[in-house]
Amino acid sequence: MRLSVIGTGYLGATHAACMAELGFEVLGLDVDPAKIDALSRGELPFHEPGLSELLVKHVQSGRLRFTTSYQEVGDWADVHFVGVGTPQKAGESAADMRYVDAAVTSLAQHITRDALIVGKSTVPVGTATRLAGLIQATRAELELPGEVELAWNPEFLREGFAVKDTLHPDRLVVGVDSEHAEQVLRQVYAAPLAEGAPWISTDFETAELVKVAANAFLATKISFINAFSEITETVGGDITTLADAIGHDPRIGRRFLNAGVGFGGGCLPKDIRALQARVSELGLDRTMAFLNDIDDINLRRRDRVVDLAVQVLNEGAVEAPSTVLPGQKIAVLGVTFKPDSDDVRDSPALDVANRLFTAGADVAVYDPQGNRNAAGRFPRLDYVGSLEAAVTGADLAILLTEWDEFKQMDPAQIAPLMKHRAIIDGRNVLDAKAWTDVGFTHAALGHRFKLSIDEETAE
Ligand SMILES: NC(=O)c1ccc[n+]([C@@H]2O[C@H](COP(=O)([O-])OP(=O)(O)OC[C@H]3O[C@@H](n4cnc5c(N)ncnc54)[C@H](O)[C@@H]3O)[C@@H](O)[C@H]2O)c1
Repeated sequence: MRLSVIGTGYLGATHAACMAELGFEVLGLDVDPAKIDALSRGELPFHEPGLSELLVKHVQSGRLRFTTSYQEVGDWADVHFVGVGTPQKAGESAADMRYVDAAVTSLAQHITRDALIVGKSTVPVGTATRLAGLIQATRAELELPGEVELAWNPEFLREGFAVKDTLHPDRLVVGVDSEHAEQVLRQVYAAPLAEGAPWISTDFETAELVKVAANAFLATKISFINAFSEITETVGGDITTLADAIGHDPRIGRRFLNAGVGFGGGCLPKDIRALQARVSELGLDRTMAFLNDIDDINLRRRDRVVDLAVQVLNEGAVEAPSTVLPGQKIAVLGVTFKPDSDDVRDSPALDVANRLFTAGADVAVYDPQGNRNAAGRFPRLDYVGSLEAAVTGADLAILLTEWDEFKQMDPAQIAPLMKHRAIIDGRNVLDAKAWTDVGFTHAALGHRFKLSIDEETAE
């Protein structure tokens, strides 16, 4: 069976290389010629552990090729996966469907044989039914040969684990309209099925909703613990212990209960907003209204980091604390939305770095993989090539993405490099005592921070 993958971004490039790894001949297509040139040379345009090796291996073997021609994929492939972007519309909450619509229309116009189109992009419920109609109408008008069907197969890969998640998925969900479509997809996923991956075959609407339900649940879990952070920051208490304690309950579970600067990336934020927009369109205005609060809690974490930075930098100041940070040097450690990725889309870390800069601070940014993408969005920040360069001469360091390199920092080695010993842990991954033992002022999200000056005054 020959497969095409339409849209070779994070999802599509991963899917294409992994399908080649499973033994299929694969043709990847994108409208971005620079991306296609790079991929054809075996160069991955983004960072994803283990993916580069697969890309090189299968480009060299000839099993994986890339093109910008819809004519070529339409004549060649039996199954076409569609993984183009569904970003948030500018100035609105809804998903921008123009890329999916364009990709599916182009396929419908160029397929010249029996084929199955398989949507993988995250879309508003009702999209697959609409697109199935579009495909049939387009093909009837052009009187093209071959039967073309549609299926929807949402993608659950996590950036940073994308290769493993694609080769060994924890479940496979397919929305199908015929026995034939299901059988084709069972053949495509024969290897993970043989490993025991759960197979959930359902209708279009359920398949579309499974994906947004999963993301809404995960976002809710993160904002839930972060809402409790607002309480422990006020009254005291240890947010990490609280998460551990409730996480032992198997009905709750510990994962996604790490208090910190919140969620971001190319999926969760836009997916919860698109879900609200879609249910409102359906007349269910109140149904997903709670997601507004989930979003608000998430965004308030960013304000909290900036407030903490002001508080920490004002420690010891005799006059009233300033709300601006002129000339203070702040080392921002991490700007990607999560570790092991170079993705800075809607990244809380990058947003905080920019807010600190806007407040007047001199911001030195270091991220093991994200500097280039971040500089594309906020070129005025000072991007440096190492952790040491970022912290040297800094008044404050703020950990915002939990890369291993930051989790393993030795406070004794960082201390002599800094002008003032102060650190904010935006992800609750540092051992506070190890830092305070070498003279650091340590603050963390979800923990009450009291200026030592307050304590002295109180005494
Ligand atoms: N990135 C993830 O971790 C992830 C996980 C699950 C689901 N998703 C979903 O997958 C979809 C893609 O996300 P992504 O992160 O890969 O986006 P991306 O922006 O990295 O990639 C999208 C690609 O589609 C290409 N494209 C746009 N219009 C096209 C067209 N008409 N024909 C061919 N190519 C076209 C773009 O040039 C780009 O390379 C989204 O719906 C997203 O929500 C992403």
